[in-house]
Amino acid sequence: MTTSQIHKAVDILRAGGLVAFPTETVYGLGADATNEVALKRIFIAKERPLNHPLIVHLANINQLPAWAKDIPESAIKLAEAFWPGPLTLILTKQSHVLDIVTAGQTTIGLRVPKHPIAHALLNAFGGGIAAPSANKFTHVSPTTAQAVCEELGDKVDLVLDGGDCEIGLESTIVDVSRGEPIILRPGMITPEMMSGVLHAPVSFARADATPILAPGMHHLHYAPTTQTLLLSTQDLKSFLLNQTEWPIAILAYSDKPPHFDEELAKKILWKKMPMDAKQYAHDLYQALRMLDKAQVKRIIIEAVPENQEWVAINDRLRKASGTKGTL
Ligand code: TXA
Ligand code: MG
Repeated sequence: MTTSQIHKAVDILRAGGLVAFPTETVYGLGADATNEVALKRIFIAKERPLNHPLIVHLANINQLPAWAKDIPESAIKLAEAFWPGPLTLILTKQSHVLDIVTAGQTTIGLRVPKHPIAHALLNAFGGGIAAPSANKFTHVSPTTAQAVCEELGDKVDLVLDGGDCEIGLESTIVDVSRGEPIILRPGMITPEMMSGVLHAPVSFARADATPILAPGMHHLHYAPTTQTLLLSTQDLKSFLLNQTEWPIAILAYSDKPPHFDEELAKKILWKKMPMDAKQYAHDLYQALRMLDKAQVKRIIIEAVPENQEWVAINDRLRKASGTKGTL
């Protein structure tokens, strides 16, 4: 990435344009967080309803008080421990923050990303950049510049290409505005990591929490356009025996069965995923995009382990398949 591209991006942001940029989680669709007209363009480009608030990205922790007030000690500790990085803090907003950013709520989501391009852009811009994931509403988040172009085409003025996103899943969102920290969206920063810093419990939001708490909890999100089902390994076997509509794609955790012959290969696109959680997360959205383009009748996702390391992945798999998760 050249300095001149960063300067060009800053000029576009200052003029009220949209710049897509890489973060360590997924690509964001950025606009000047103080420019209402530019912010409206984000919602139009994404076809996203206005009641879904935006995360404001900052260059460093020193900018926090410009956007949030009554910041609790726990927020400072989490920011010092995990920023720059894949953690979004929900805090009480400063009064100047535009309603379009927060969907009229009294809270604001703030994050300092780690990716060197995001960092360079934020430093050069100087202010907050509001940036949701750079995809159409409810679609899979983009983890490559090419995926951003496929999602948003000419609706974005510039895409900064930073290659593959290292993590591949969106940031952990933790609400620290109401006392005990509550996780609204699981991510690579786990409750255990946060409890370790705070020496206090950090829990997940209840499944029946009001949707406005985190509209990303909408039960169909991060989803391919092809009908997608999430099945246990056992259910997958019986599903295949009864399936009549072909071809289908399987996002597989297990290895291809030994009897997988040429005949079956014509009917089933078997996409084997890594067994390591970090690697799985890194590959997930690119794999879903690939299967979504494969013109299959259905995408079947084989369930993955249920332990701590896989919590964020399980959350996205449930949402990709429209299954109501426990989170
Ligand atoms: O990793 C990420 O967080 C990426 C990168 C680009 O930073 N961004 C991202 O943004 O995933 P988005 O808009 O796709 O998802 C942000 C989620 C939404 O579900 C939104 O409802 C929630 O954050 N959110 C934002 N502000 C909030 C607030 N004040 N209270 C509750 N939830 C909020
Ligand atoms: Mg999103």
